[in-house]
Amino acid sequence: MYTKEEIKDRVEMLIDPSVNKSFKETKGIKFLDIDEEKMIVNVLIGLEKLEDDFKRTVTRSLAKLIKLDLGFTGIKAQFELNKKSESILAREVKYIGVASGKGGVGKSTVAANLAYAFKTLGKKVGIIDADIYGSSIPTILDMEVTAPKSTGNEKIIPFEKDGIELISTEFFLAPDKPLMWRGPMLGKMLNHFFYDVVWNEDIEYILVDLPPGTGDVALDIQTLIPQCKMVIVTTPHVSASHVAVKAGFAAEQLKHEILGVVENMSYLNHAGEKINVFGEGGGKIVADKLKSKLLATIPIGQPKNHISIFDSSEEIGIDYLGLANKIIKEY
Ligand SMILES: Nc1ncnc2c1ncn2[C@@H]1O[C@H](COP(=O)(O)OP(=O)(O)OP(=O)(O)O)[C@@H](O)[C@H]1O
Ligand SMILES: [Mg+2]
Repeated sequence: MYTKEEIKDRVEMLIDPSVNKSFKETKGIKFLDIDEEKMIVNVLIGLEKLEDDFKRTVTRSLAKLIKLDLGFTGIKAQFELNKKSESILAREVKYIGVASGKGGVGKSTVAANLAYAFKTLGKKVGIIDADIYGSSIPTILDMEVTAPKSTGNEKIIPFEKDGIELISTEFFLAPDKPLMWRGPMLGKMLNHFFYDVVWNEDIEYILVDLPPGTGDVALDIQTLIPQCKMVIVTTPHVSASHVAVKAGFAAEQLKHEILGVVENMSYLNHAGEKINVFGEGGGKIVADKLKSKLLATIPIGQPKNHISIFDSSEEIGIDYLGLANKIIKEY
């Protein structure tokens, strides 16, 4: 039995006849799934030019590959216009994925504060809340959740807070959501974030808040933005570091470069003393195991003026500026 990735690799070697380039080059494989019971491969293919002749040619080469070469019973192919060339994916944007093994270690908080730090350092930045089923960035940024607005040609206008653009599933689940965003869109949500959002032309960095652990979203990210570099967040506790290492290895397997490790909730500053509430050493362990470096240790604390964002006048805000500075130097 072939894995989804193996099949995808093979399908990506096929040619988009409309431009004579492999689907790997055109990023034409939008979705691929195996129905193991029926032994059918479902695939959604983006063609650079959506014409019947090209669809027929691809359907034939797909059938040969999937049925004859790989031994499946059937193939269900759907086609759409490949919108990559006009999307943000065609631009030179630096992506930073914020990942962790465990949930609740502060990934989203770190991603959001890092975005503000980038902004303070003069960078134009956006956030993609890729934690599709547990999105939290709008709450962290204290934003009202309303349905997204679309442009005349059905593109999605990103939300904005303090000059930072963002998109999150949470907006699509707003109670007043228009019908068009329901159901089928959720499964392909991540694609829409990249293909259909009209991001500001000047965006240099996009922070991607990933769901905890490893899963489909990580694979989608690898497909959409293989150049995305990773920041791994852990707490100081050894058990958290253990799972963070796994996330790091998973990122490496997906061939993402790891920028470094952030140890969050490192300690508590109390009466001039550092108290190691959640143990110590986790960040260093993760960095060593991943042959990477510990970029920052962020203490436990609550911001003065916002729910989760620290100003650059606060100590933790300065920690985030230091972290952003280190990242900008390298990437
Ligand atoms: N340094 C910190 N000091 C105090 N509280 C923190 C710190 N970092 C994060 N928190 C709090 O911990 C909780 C979890 O943080 P957050 O939602 O950022 O984690 P997460 O890793 O994104 O979680 P999830 O896995 O649910 O996505 C939040 O209530 C957040 O405010
Ligand atoms: Mg989160």
